Amino acid sequence: MDDGLDQRVIALTQGETDAVALMATVACEVHHSDTRFHWTGFYRVVAPELMKIGPYQGGHGCLVIPFSRGVCGACARTGEVQLVDDVETFAGHIACASSTRSELVLPVRNAAGDLIAVFDIDSDLPAAFTSQDAVQLQALLDQVFADVAPAC
Ligand code: SME
Repeated sequence: MDDGLDQRVIALTQGETDAVALMATVACEVHHSDTRFHWTGFYRVVAPELMKIGPYQGGHGCLVIPFSRGVCGACARTGEVQLVDDVETFAGHIACASSTRSELVLPVRNAAGDLIAVFDIDSDLPAAFTSQDAVQLQALLDQVFADVAPAC
């Protein structure tokens, strides 16, 4: 990710608390900050144990993901970052694009700790993501979504 990403996203989203406006801005900025990323977007928590697609960049994403399914579901269920070096080894991975080789999914929480969404980045490259990527992106998400109200 380029060096200016954090500052750019913070500047663009300052004072905004609408979840979709924030997600659209983060998806766009993160996606275009690094050539490793071929799909970058959000799945929003819309009901207990259920997520629907939010703003994204890349090819089409599947519309609905229950907490019980896929890498995104595992992130929502456990509340923990999922860093998957090889999606073939992840039982239940949902293949929206057959070219996806690795992915990083992070929980999106407000300051009260409510789960708002998950943030999913997919790559055509194997083992494209580092734990440093996860740390940097989690800090950014925590800051950007601090004041967002939960949808359910
Ligand atoms: N990576 C996801 C599916 C969503 S898409 O690839 C856009 C998963 O297995 O949770």
